[in-house]
Amino acid sequence: MARAEAQHVSTTTRLHNYASVQGEPVLLQAIRDHLKRKSTLDIDEKCIQVMSGGTSGLSVVCNTLLSAGDEVLLPAPFWPLIRGIVASRGATAVEIPFFTRLDETDFDVTAALETSITERTVALYINTPNNPTGRVLSPHVIDAMLKVAVKHNLWVLTDEAYEELRFTDEAPSPVWANPTVRDRVIATHTLSKGYGLAGARVGFTHGPVEIMAQIRAVQTFNVYCAARPMQLGAARALNDGRGWVDHARALYHEAGRRSADALGLPHPEGGTFLFFDTKPYLREGETSSVPFLLRCLDAGVLLTPGSASGRDYERYARLCFTCVPRHELDEALACLKAALNAQL
Ligand SMILES: Cc1ncc(COP(=O)(O)O)c(C=O)c1O
Repeated sequence: MARAEAQHVSTTTRLHNYASVQGEPVLLQAIRDHLKRKSTLDIDEKCIQVMSGGTSGLSVVCNTLLSAGDEVLLPAPFWPLIRGIVASRGATAVEIPFFTRLDETDFDVTAALETSITERTVALYINTPNNPTGRVLSPHVIDAMLKVAVKHNLWVLTDEAYEELRFTDEAPSPVWANPTVRDRVIATHTLSKGYGLAGARVGFTHGPVEIMAQIRAVQTFNVYCAARPMQLGAARALNDGRGWVDHARALYHEAGRRSADALGLPHPEGGTFLFFDTKPYLREGETSSVPFLLRCLDAGVLLTPGSASGRDYERYARLCFTCVPRHELDEALACLKAALNAQL
């Protein structure tokens, strides 16, 4: 895959100059082509903004949309940084136990969202495949969520970080392509995950033209532009990197299955995480996962506390699997199994 470090100043004119705020033309075109492959929609260039990765993209979106006191619905558990991004605007992250309830027969998606809505609710955040549960939302669940957003006139903020790391056979149409929410959906993507370019800090956001003009204005004062050499590398990755992405997806899929088997958990449907209740591993009197996590750390395994992904998940832990070479994964899993068995 072509990467930014392979580019030379002598062969790329003004490689280290500023880019335009919106983004390099070659990357904007690569993004349009990418979005067309995912949806068949031909998104107007004016509706696209290159960002310095997903974190920065979602921060700029929240800086544009949110005022102090506004409320954002966060189906939980969620990517840990989104709660802080919302809070940094003085807005309130309204946490709704969601992904861990999807298999409950009486779980009512509409009711779960509706009961959390107030007159200050302005947006609904949707992340599928989900960090940390590895769940992929079904079209049926997504439809119910979008109906609530339309009924209550909410912005829909989609987080597409794991769009390339979905392991299910069906390829559901992206949330942002749903015709019922095209006027209210703002989607943020990143090359950090499927393309393995986390250090390059390149992502992009798209949405309705008027709000994208405001987002571009906020981007100007927050970041100005994403790094030009990295934008050129990202364009090459989007245009030519599908072989890389397919290979990465297969490796992550395998690592996810093997990690889930080691823990006796269902296989993840996407993403790079497993999220589990640590109750079987807790000792008498322990109510949060922290003592368990410390014991795992002593055994050489680093897990994330579930509370980082929502206040209802104190007893949970998140495991991140990566596509390291097979023998390294085996070593890590052996270490994890030993740590778990020692606790039972
Ligand atoms: C769900 C989700 N959204 C956004 C991001 C941020 O991505 P980036 O590395 O591009 O800032 C991450 C990174 O872990 C993530 O898991």
